[in-house]
Amino acid sequence: MAGGAGDDAKLETLAEFRRRYPMVGDLEKRAKWRIPRFAYEFLQGGAGDETGLNRNRSALKAVEVVPRYGIDVSKVDTSVELFGRRYAAPIGISPIGFDGMMWPGATERFAKAAQAHNIPYMVGTLACSTIEKVVEWAPDVTWFQLYPMAPNTHQYSLEMAERARVAGAKVLVATLDVPVRAKRPRDLRNGLTMPFRLTPKTMMAAAMAPFWLDAIRRMGMPTFANMAGFAGAPDRVTTSAFVQKHIGGGFPWEQIARIRDKWTGPMIVKGVMHPADAVKALSLGLNGVVVSNHGGRQFDAAPATIDVLPEITRTIGTRGTVLFDSGVVSGVDMLRALACGANSCFAGRAFMLGLAALGDHGATHMAQAFIEEYRIALGQNGLLSSDEARHAPVRHPGAWTADNFQIRT
Ligand SMILES: Cc1cc2nc3c(=O)[nH]c(=O)nc-3n(C[C@H](O)[C@H](O)[C@H](O)COP(=O)(O)O)c2cc1C
Repeated sequence: MAGGAGDDAKLETLAEFRRRYPMVGDLEKRAKWRIPRFAYEFLQGGAGDETGLNRNRSALKAVEVVPRYGIDVSKVDTSVELFGRRYAAPIGISPIGFDGMMWPGATERFAKAAQAHNIPYMVGTLACSTIEKVVEWAPDVTWFQLYPMAPNTHQYSLEMAERARVAGAKVLVATLDVPVRAKRPRDLRNGLTMPFRLTPKTMMAAAMAPFWLDAIRRMGMPTFANMAGFAGAPDRVTTSAFVQKHIGGGFPWEQIARIRDKWTGPMIVKGVMHPADAVKALSLGLNGVVVSNHGGRQFDAAPATIDVLPEITRTIGTRGTVLFDSGVVSGVDMLRALACGANSCFAGRAFMLGLAALGDHGATHMAQAFIEEYRIALGQNGLLSSDEARHAPVRHPGAWTADNFQIRT
């Protein structure tokens, strides 16, 4: 059970959290004053004027599911099978780069909560603990998210993928949707720079966040832990400079094919928004896609992910697994996404808000909340399994059609 057997104090805390912070909106209010402003806004912000960020949420909310009654729901099965393994529910933790800046020690907390609750954790290239450590904490549920490294040769991308394979990551996830660095106005206004530096402005914000400062004292300043080996020196400044210089640019499909050749397990791409890109991924031997727009952090005119999901699912049918993220904050959202065709969902900000608002147990709180809310959503709708959820009667006003994608058949 989450919280650790026999740790009554912790279990009590979790029960208290469930009463006092029942929704992610409650966590947002608390996180806002618990962590420094630059960290909160880095987490919550999006690209440009944030239309895309807001559209993810409003489009998800517009999806309606019709309940059926008169069904015995005493035995609802929330589990879902992904790449040959059965997980507790169709929710996982999305990769969050530099997670330790928002909550020091976040990577470890995510890994342990994922393992304890049997949900997948896509740990990022830019996480603040190494992939080797993460697999130790979460041996059964760690997936590895790969960014392009050294975009001219991709030599480091191949090396990093190999490290993840040797460490024991179950699934490789290559992120496609950061071909260029996005303009994120909140970070510019807050003076958030890379390498991260304590300027008078950031120092002032940090001084007003004693819980966060205490966590920094316990866990140390965050670093790009996976990069230390590549950068040739373990210190923060050298690794940050390495990230600045070598991480970035997109993955051309030829590189995806090269990595696919070397990675022996399941491999997927993250950031797919067009059915033709999903088809391309499958044609290279990939096992699925993550329909994602990076949580609205890259392009404000992008459609909401929920709106492109049904056509992508329809196009690839049963030939690959369709995962979904960007805007998921509740078990009801999980049901909405499954009803629109996803095999499973992931969430980024919701899990990080858990840590920022509640401290070290926040990831566990969110894992429990998602699974419990999803169980309630299934039961309320007379759905006995995740498979049935994928066939629930749904009305989806914003759904894109083949015509919108300019697909001519
Ligand atoms: C602060 C932050 C950092 C992120 N870093 C990464 C990353 O390093 N790699 C990646 O593939 N996606 C990254 N993402 C995108 C998430 O993995 C995920 O797609 C997105 O958060 C989903 O939207 P949601 O936050 O509304 O759940 C990041 C998102 C946030 C909020």
